[in-house]
Amino acid sequence: MKFGSLVANDNVSFVVKEGEIVSLIGPNGAGKTTLFNCISGFYKPFSGQVFFDGKDITGKPSHEITMMGLTRTFQIVKPLKDMTVRDNVLTGAFLRSSNKKEAQKIAEEVLHLTHLWDKRDMFAGNLTIADKKRLEIARVLATKPRMIMLDEAMAGLNQSEIKEAMDLCVKLNRSGITLLIVEHIMEAIMPISNRVVVLSAGKKIAEGKPVEIINNEEVIKAYLGERYYAKSKKLDRRL
Ligand SMILES: Nc1ncnc2c1ncn2[C@@H]1O[C@H](COP(=O)(O)OP(=O)(O)OP(=O)(O)O)[C@@H](O)[C@H]1O
Ligand SMILES: [Mg+2]
Repeated sequence: MKFGSLVANDNVSFVVKEGEIVSLIGPNGAGKTTLFNCISGFYKPFSGQVFFDGKDITGKPSHEITMMGLTRTFQIVKPLKDMTVRDNVLTGAFLRSSNKKEAQKIAEEVLHLTHLWDKRDMFAGNLTIADKKRLEIARVLATKPRMIMLDEAMAGLNQSEIKEAMDLCVKLNRSGITLLIVEHIMEAIMPISNRVVVLSAGKKIAEGKPVEIINNEEVIKAYLGERYYAKSKKLDRRL
């Protein structure tokens, strides 16, 4: 994917297998959000192909890709501010069912799962950042996805909220949803990821198990830094 002369995604290639949790990490401006946009149909890449479930989805409109079961959240949350939390989730549910009762049932389940039930009648614009992030996940869950791409869904959360978000990821994954996660909070994603892909300046520089990635010299140099490396010795034992 190019913007003018800037190659934001350069020959990036990797596979996410059904049932996996894969994390996509890398410095600011590495091209992670751009890659999500290319995969989810918000951008049409200049070259290359994107496959979902064996089907070529390159350049397909995003609503068609969502219908196929692949959906994503946005780094900059986009709730429908003047609608209630419940109605925000319902907009996702109506994608799967035109029957109001059925859609309401889907929305209710998702509101409970994401701990938003008590806030269902609040206007989305009045939620805290943590709840807006939850709502972002709730809206995509209501579309009954098979795979979700999360773009910094934990940014701005406190420690206990991060733990809750990690638990939700694991729970969704155990329920059969494949996850591709973009995140800067290594302590959150390393313990739950099966594999990690690293982007730097638009290129894939590494791919492997979390324990391999935190010990990869190129990744430490490009992104994790020496300070993290020292801390990672502790993390190492948990992976
Ligand atoms: N719509 C756009 N037009 C022009 N340049 C863009 C556009 N979107 C992204 N870029 C540029 O492409 C590069 C990759 O940006 P991208 O947002 O994908 O990075 P990122 O890895 O998601 O970073 P972050 O961790 O800060 O979210 C950056 O240099 C950015 O400035
Ligand atoms: Mg980004």
